[in-house]
Amino acid sequence: MAMIAHKCPQYRVTVVDTNPERITAWNSDTLPIYEPGLDEIVKKIRGRNLFFSTQIEQGIKEASIIFVSVNTPIKTFGTGVGMAADLQYWEKTARQIREASQSQKIIVEKSTLPVKTALAMERILTATANEVHFDILSNPEFMAEGTGIKDLETPDRVLIGSRETPEGIKARDELVEIYANWVPRERIITSNIWSSELSKLVSNAFLAQRISSINAISSLCEKTEADITEVARAVGMDSRLGDKFLNASVGFGGSCFKKDLLNLVYLCRQYGLKEVADYWDGVVRINDYQKERFILNMLGAMFNTLAGKRICLFGFAFKADTGDTRESPAIYVSRRIVEERAELVITDPRALANAEADLADIQGAVAFVEDPCEAAAGCDAIAVMTEWDIYATLDFKKIYETMRKPAYIFDGRNILAHEDLFKIGFNVFPVGKPPLTHF
Ligand SMILES: NC(=O)c1ccc[n+]([C@@H]2O[C@H](COP(=O)([O-])OP(=O)(O)OC[C@H]3O[C@@H](n4cnc5c(N)ncnc54)[C@H](O)[C@@H]3O)[C@@H](O)[C@H]2O)c1
Repeated sequence: MAMIAHKCPQYRVTVVDTNPERITAWNSDTLPIYEPGLDEIVKKIRGRNLFFSTQIEQGIKEASIIFVSVNTPIKTFGTGVGMAADLQYWEKTARQIREASQSQKIIVEKSTLPVKTALAMERILTATANEVHFDILSNPEFMAEGTGIKDLETPDRVLIGSRETPEGIKARDELVEIYANWVPRERIITSNIWSSELSKLVSNAFLAQRISSINAISSLCEKTEADITEVARAVGMDSRLGDKFLNASVGFGGSCFKKDLLNLVYLCRQYGLKEVADYWDGVVRINDYQKERFILNMLGAMFNTLAGKRICLFGFAFKADTGDTRESPAIYVSRRIVEERAELVITDPRALANAEADLADIQGAVAFVEDPCEAAAGCDAIAVMTEWDIYATLDFKKIYETMRKPAYIFDGRNILAHEDLFKIGFNVFPVGKPPLTHF
């Protein structure tokens, strides 16, 4: 919404949320999320044509286009528990819109939703005698956290799905006009509404699948002395495949991949497509396996016990350039380390507050330290969880001196200079490459 307001001064954009703390933060100097470049844009246009408010009813009344971007987490109860999208926030919003609307509106599905959700939205909006007309569009968001501003400024594509009725097409054209203020026309694509809903789930499923594919091969590399970086380079140079998303790691995280995959699996099951569901479920299972394998490698390297050892996690965010820790592999790794009765120290430049909240139930067993050098002091091992640039430039000679010996590094992102670390004295365990050990 900030990008639309920034690029289209002729539109007035109001963001409303049920969470007053978030709105207060959006109106303050400390925005509630860290996203490179976002602060500058918000500060420039806030109060001009971008507003943040808790007045939901008024927001609905005044708007002619409403982007619904509420959370759609995985269900934690009832039918479809742990798999299906929990659409309670979505449905509540639909009812709120119906009750407060006094004039015709375009409703844009911005949240990631199971295919056919627009049908439910239509039914809720037209379920009373209220004469107001609504057009529903699907406009999934493809931006990724950490590169959000760049992705929004120069998107690969903007996808807009609509009903193929004259009203549907008219509404779709209105949304096309908004994006056309800065996105080249050939990158704004339109489709039927179900294709649009499904495309978002499929995009994330394909991206996650690439990570799980390379991670699956990383385990084979570790058994065969092949090197995953060399394999990925050779594979990625095939122009049919390309080189993106081929970095082996401790596993993918983030609020979207797992949730959207599980959603796809659930949808397939619902439509009786068991084999298809199992196929995509495999992508999730490989990701879980990769996280557990990281712990098993750690155990194997450290004489099959972590008890009483002190282990430092470098990074807790699910990837660099974000403070977001939702579904971060670091959560699983932390819990397993504590389960193995090791002491745990966590450092991260942006995600420590979220880390503390994620691990609230085991807080007694964890220390949170801002400075990575301080965090590593007195530890037996460092495990890199997030590919923050700063970790590659630390003075590892100094760090080595402050650690217990033998000192280990488990590079869950393959970002460090492994040979150099080995020369300093570390035993180095990358993902999908032969370890460098002094034993
Ligand atoms: N985070 C991403 O990078 C990303 C990218 C693409 C798509 N998406 C999709 O966008 C959606 C939102 O994701 P998010 O990461 O921003 O989630 P989020 O949980 O950070 O934000 C959702 C917000 O909606 C608010 N909300 C809930 N019910 C409401 C209601 N009835 N009225 C007003 N506000 C309400 C919540 O208070 C919260 O602030 C999800 O469907 C997600 O899959 C997210």
